[in-house]
Amino acid sequence: AGARDRGDGRAPRGHVVLFPLPFQGHLSPMLQLARALHARGLAATVLHTAYNAPDAPAHPELAFVAVPSADAIARALAAAPRDGIAKIMALNAAIEASGCARDALASLMSGPERPACLVIDAALPGAQKAAAELGLPTIVLHTGSAAAFRLFRSYAMLREKGYLPAKESELNRPVEEMPPLRVSDLFDPSKYFNEEMANKILALSTETTTNSSGTVVNTFEALETPELRSVRDELGATIPVFAIGPLHKLTSNGDRSSLLDQDRSCIEWLDTKEPGSVLYVSFGSVVMVSQDEFKEVAWGLANSGRPFLWVVRPGLVIGVSGKSELPEGFVEAVEGRCKVVDWAPQTEVLAHHAVGGFWTHNGWNSTLESIYEGVPMLSRPIFGDQLVTARYVQETWQIGFRVEGKLERGKIEEAIRRLMEGEEGAEVKQRADELKKKILICLKNGGSTQQAIDKLVDHMLSL
Ligand code: UDX
Repeated sequence: AGARDRGDGRAPRGHVVLFPLPFQGHLSPMLQLARALHARGLAATVLHTAYNAPDAPAHPELAFVAVPSADAIARALAAAPRDGIAKIMALNAAIEASGCARDALASLMSGPERPACLVIDAALPGAQKAAAELGLPTIVLHTGSAAAFRLFRSYAMLREKGYLPAKESELNRPVEEMPPLRVSDLFDPSKYFNEEMANKILALSTETTTNSSGTVVNTFEALETPELRSVRDELGATIPVFAIGPLHKLTSNGDRSSLLDQDRSCIEWLDTKEPGSVLYVSFGSVVMVSQDEFKEVAWGLANSGRPFLWVVRPGLVIGVSGKSELPEGFVEAVEGRCKVVDWAPQTEVLAHHAVGGFWTHNGWNSTLESIYEGVPMLSRPIFGDQLVTARYVQETWQIGFRVEGKLERGKIEEAIRRLMEGEEGAEVKQRADELKKKILICLKNGGSTQQAIDKLVDHMLSL
């Protein structure tokens, strides 16, 4: 299938351009959406800079266009502080200063296939402004949950009602307007090291939605029914909300968006383990832990007596730039029971019959991938939407438990046993299996996700 035909030689029904945010948790769902749109007969062109540039040959059905000044923008991004919000701000500033999105879009618009719209990540107002100048409508992709989407649009209310700034004595206070959230689940800009920047990121992702012609959320109707209802009520008919998830399962040809090399040797290792026996441990692409926490995690895993597969990404431990050394005596203690990799083929790992639990930071992609495979979770959220998702995992869907408080080996060991053994563990597993059935219904022909993508394509072509 070429980027310019429908895979069967027929002309595309239309053309869309997509501009992802160049971070793993944002890039993957955008490329998955692009592929799903292509599978519905659209030609899809992905704009990018040279920073975390997508692997074009891995997606032969898509066209990739490096924006003008792609290298200079990548350098500006690399020079920005390690912090994700700072990098997003730097990217938007560079897009606006260079005019690169406007130039790339103008050239596509004067080409033979005028695009119907631009799909942007919610945090890319720079690209949206460029499209608006050219009269090109935008659709916003929310790569997090509908619950997080709703929450991030509610900051004025949260401040007005006194939930924020959060008071130490009220961390347990329920947010009555948004059950099951509590004050401790709210991302509090006043606690962030750069409050002004935190407020800006909240404002801009709200603004991109408000200025859009529609939004896509990577979720499914049965998972977040009240949350979707409430964002739809707020946005009204002019900004339709399409629940199109889980995006990683919309096209069947595997995970091809990883920015790091996935170590496949762990699949062979899993093949040697009993069904449901292994705990998979990964904190995604951005979360970092302190040296002390790393040590406690290592010994908690070791002492649990369980087989485990642990992703120790280079850069995971604060203050260690490359690979982290495992604590002394650890390798001997877990002989034959543990596999450590830099980066795993995660969706395949979660689909493996040997995996019985997932200790996760509850990044939204990891959470959806786990829900899809019916794998119950241990949650250790660190920031932003992860706190919201962990609350839903434990209280709304009841498919996992949260590891609370300071990370300490005894507590970790206990949490692992709670998830992987005994009655409570069996109950969360049963609910995870039930939720999996619901996701499969949404993905079937005629299911809510399939209907939503048809409607999205019609909507895009009508703009
Ligand atoms: C970030 C934020 O942290 C998260 O809260 C937000 O919802 C999305 O952006 P990240 O921390 O990377 O994302 O987590 P997540 O959303 O879970 O995405 C990680 C992706 O990397 C997943 O698709 C996962 O399959 C993949 N992955 C992870 C691998 O391919 N191999 C690994 O070893 C670990």
